[in-house]
Amino acid sequence: MGLPAFLLLTLSLCSLPSLSDGGKILVYPIDGSHWLNMRILVEALHARGHDITVLRSSTSWYVSEQSPHYTSITIQQQRPQNIESQGFMNFFLRRSIEIRKNRGSLWALVDFYKNLFNLIRENHKVVAEFVVTTFENKTLIKKLSDKEYDLFLTDPAFPGGVLLAHYLKLPTVFNVRWVFSGEAHFAIAPSPLSYVPQLFSQYTDKMDFTQRLANVFYHWILVYMFHFVSNPPYQAVCDRYFGPGVDAMSLMQAGDIWLMRVDFTFEFPRPTMPNVVYIGGFQGKPSKPLPAELEEFVQSSGEHGVIIMTLGTLLGDLGPEMSEIVASAFAALPQKVIWRHLGEKPASLGNNTKLVKWMPQNDLLGHPKTKVFVTHGGTNGIYEAIYHAVPTLGIPLIFDQFDNMIRLKARGAADYVEITTLDTETLVTALKNLLDPEKLYKSNMLKLSQLHHDKPIEPLDSAVFWMEYVMRHKGAPHLRTESYRLPWYAYHSLDVTATILAMFLITLTMFYMLCKCLVRSLMRVKKSKTD
Ligand SMILES: *[C@@H]1O[C@H](CO)[C@@H](O)[C@H](O)[C@H]1NC(C)=O
Ligand SMILES: *[C@@H]1O[C@H](CO)[C@@H](O)[C@H](O)[C@H]1NC(C)=O
Repeated sequence: MGLPAFLLLTLSLCSLPSLSDGGKILVYPIDGSHWLNMRILVEALHARGHDITVLRSSTSWYVSEQSPHYTSITIQQQRPQNIESQGFMNFFLRRSIEIRKNRGSLWALVDFYKNLFNLIRENHKVVAEFVVTTFENKTLIKKLSDKEYDLFLTDPAFPGGVLLAHYLKLPTVFNVRWVFSGEAHFAIAPSPLSYVPQLFSQYTDKMDFTQRLANVFYHWILVYMFHFVSNPPYQAVCDRYFGPGVDAMSLMQAGDIWLMRVDFTFEFPRPTMPNVVYIGGFQGKPSKPLPAELEEFVQSSGEHGVIIMTLGTLLGDLGPEMSEIVASAFAALPQKVIWRHLGEKPASLGNNTKLVKWMPQNDLLGHPKTKVFVTHGGTNGIYEAIYHAVPTLGIPLIFDQFDNMIRLKARGAADYVEITTLDTETLVTALKNLLDPEKLYKSNMLKLSQLHHDKPIEPLDSAVFWMEYVMRHKGAPHLRTESYRLPWYAYHSLDVTATILAMFLITLTMFYMLCKCLVRSLMRVKKSKTD
């Protein structure tokens, strides 16, 4: 984008009569950490004077019923959505770590996907039930239709919102990184498997032949997942309410704008689409001063600085054995450590380490004394680390966390350790490496951070701009490619290839037969002559 475009964009953001009296927006979020992302957009839209309604399940943990930023509509539901319910996730996590102990074996791979598919299968069923409950409540549907919303904002990781948006015929914007078939780009943009690593492959964009072979294999596993695990519950809803020939995937592909939670300082470069807008790092914000007590602790670290460690909202406790390993590794370092730890206090805890139940993560990452961030590798934490240029040590546990750490490691800005084989010595070495200026982790992260910040427009402003754009123009179909209307064989031009091949073969056969006839008749002439 050139400078004039940038100026225009800035001007339009400042001077737009924010849709005269604000638009009406219906939000269908995903619970759990996805809501933390969505809430940022909701608050930004509210600040621009829009009227926001959030649909929530009665079993929701994170999406509160009361808020100064939105009004909520609660849908009564029997079963909670499993993902990120504490008990279920702990089980899933323990099982994942057990499976990883056998990693490399084929059984471990089968177990890994079985464990994952069980988790998401149940979840998709519950979301599909949520949609049916909504559709069946005619009072509610009438209320939603009568309100005449200008925009439907949803996260299509579970595509319940996609179906509802279609039912209500509203322009749709996605806040997205994952969809029900895998990574979101794979659903709309060409994704050559030769240099776009598939989810869970743990490859970079530089793959040798064997890795490319395996990458195709990982891709087909997700294709299987889509057809046999994630799609069936929604297909049932489509068949029941939308009639034949409609499926959730093409409804999703018809979305107007995709606000992609991706930034190419982090993600590997890949093909994209005109209706994809990149907002990776939109949660980034400057740090605020620390509470006095914490500031004192941080300052007491002197020239060595501090290390902070947190494994996200889901995992506060690694279990006693692992906690001792982590505690004794920290005790062997001259740095001070702030560790979010919810379990028993480890016996080997050094007096340089402070245990906390909660930490102001962004403010600590932005503190000049913070040297290393130890994380599970969730994207929110990673983008905050990039924003504040803090080298990162990953202890990836589940989902995309391995792939996330691979991306950061490929940039030389992070390293990661394997939890199932972790011992004190490995952890100390890894931390010392990250702290060592000669290993360049800090300078690489600084470079990444500078690139991340060097943008014509803040990612959050860009998100707001494009949502208002869709409201102003009642959709953005002109930015959408026609790919979503095509059947798979037409998309890959297989029908055309087959036709050309057939024509070629027919011509060849005809030519061959002609020659054969000709030769035969010549032979006959010759024979009769010699006779
Ligand atoms: C239908 O929705 C309305 C409006 O949100 C709500 O008051 C009512 O309880 C719902 N009915 C059922 C059966 O869930
Ligand atoms: C840790 O605390 C003990 C006593 O509380 C003290 O003797 C020791 O010097 C301290 N160690 C460090 C590294 O500060």
